[in-house]
Amino acid sequence: MTDLENELRAAIRTIPDYPKPGILFRDITTLLGAPRAFRRSIDELVHPYAGLQVSKIAGIEARGFILGGAMAHQLSAGFVPIRKKGKLPHDTVRVAYSLEYGVDEMEMHRDAIMEGESVILVDDLIATGGTAEGAVKLLRQMGANIVAACFVIDLPDLGGRKKLEDLGVQVRTLVSYEGH
Ligand code: PRP
Ligand code: MG
Repeated sequence: MTDLENELRAAIRTIPDYPKPGILFRDITTLLGAPRAFRRSIDELVHPYAGLQVSKIAGIEARGFILGGAMAHQLSAGFVPIRKKGKLPHDTVRVAYSLEYGVDEMEMHRDAIMEGESVILVDDLIATGGTAEGAVKLLRQMGANIVAACFVIDLPDLGGRKKLEDLGVQVRTLVSYEGH
């Protein structure tokens, strides 16, 4: 395990039985509150793209906003919020996505991405990949060129990384919890 992975694991808090019995919740608020671990996470997320012409960072509500804002600043890119339905004030594109139980819908402003723009997608965690898959559909609907999808945490047993890779999306994660 790398030094960075060790630091991130130490900074991420695990809460048993949240939000339901049997779930181990990986809480990044402690990582966000740790100055060095937060900075190192952002540095690691952006470093492959320094010097490339990344036009936008698309962050998934809610924790993807925090990471994506910092990444956008670092890369001198714009930031695009992908939100739960009903939160965005202008014309939107909307997609249904699957959750562990049931479905929900997410939206993006129709004019947020122009055809052919280079976009990096970011969220705190990928589990089943249903959320990120929905975001990929929205971005592609607007003609985005998705450079990569980045997550701090991967729960590989739940198959999300593979789901995105099967869609032809390059996936980057910083720390992986097997057996979640
Ligand atoms: C969590 C997490 C990811 C998503 C991953 O968000 O922040 O966005 O689940 O799960 P998936 O890969 O199985 O789709 P959550 O749905 O709990 O909502 P929140 O971020 O608004 O709290
Ligand atoms: Mg989320």
